[in-house]
Amino acid sequence: MTDFTVLRTAEQVGKLVVKWRKAGMRIGFVPTMGALHKGHLSLVSLALGETDRVIVSIFVNPAQFDRGDDLESYPGTCDEDLMKLDDAGAHCVFLPSADEIYPEGFSTSVHVSGLTDTLCGKYRPGHFDGVATVCAVLFDIVRPDIAVFGRKDAQQLAVVRRMVDDLRLGVEVLVGEIVREPDGLAMSSRNSNLNPEERVQSAVIHGGLSKASELVAEGVRDADRICDAVREFIGMAPLASIQYLGLVDPETMMHVEKLNAPGLLAVAVYFGNTRLIDNVILKPDRS
Ligand code: PAJ
Repeated sequence: MTDFTVLRTAEQVGKLVVKWRKAGMRIGFVPTMGALHKGHLSLVSLALGETDRVIVSIFVNPAQFDRGDDLESYPGTCDEDLMKLDDAGAHCVFLPSADEIYPEGFSTSVHVSGLTDTLCGKYRPGHFDGVATVCAVLFDIVRPDIAVFGRKDAQQLAVVRRMVDDLRLGVEVLVGEIVREPDGLAMSSRNSNLNPEERVQSAVIHGGLSKASELVAEGVRDADRICDAVREFIGMAPLASIQYLGLVDPETMMHVEKLNAPGLLAVAVYFGNTRLIDNVILKPDRS
């Protein structure tokens, strides 16, 4: 907890990173939008285990929100976030303003095609362009050796990996597994927007995904059969409204009909105005 710095400009971050590099240190990076929970902090731990210095960014990126009201209802808890990151052992927090990331005249957008057409990409037009663009800018500012992303946002992970490969950004992307509440709900900054009834019923999401894993263990391979069972399970919660449910290839995000290789079963569910996403990797082998 000795070496904890909060920086607001790209120039300050650049100088710090140059200093660390001269000292032969490896640098890890965890991009976030704040309202931090144990899922985010698990990524910080992962980065600390792999590198000598860890930078966490907190930036609620306007370019990835499709509706202004979603952006406005995004929870913000900055002082608490800084305390959590200090306790977790992060070395630097980058807290840029919107102008620092998107200075006047900024006109570039990174579009990763194909794998952004399904799942969230289909319902949130432009969302992944916003994610890819901000990640490209942040990677350029921080120049990390590794960047850590959560499997909770599996399509985002695939998009970032594709972009890093295609643009040869030279960052190793590591993945942190999904951290869950005791009843199975994936931790999310948006969970705080659920009312008590919605919060109780939201456990059906993980229940439904677990049902899919059980079916696969029993030998079911047909995507429609798996998805029907999950729909039925989630449908038991009267407040749940499924936006999408799909079984896709974990890299290309293309739909699969039969599970012949590991598949990503991904779901988005509304409880009131709160949209929750979750997923599970289904593995057809019995080992
Ligand atoms: P945010 O939603 O704050 O998430 C930051 C990182 O935490 C992402 O990599 C996300 O997958 C991971 N994460 C969220 N919930 C998690 C959980 N329950 N378990 C494990 N990891 C979890 O994702 C974003 O921000 C933004 O799109 C960003 C990448 C910062 C670009 O703006």
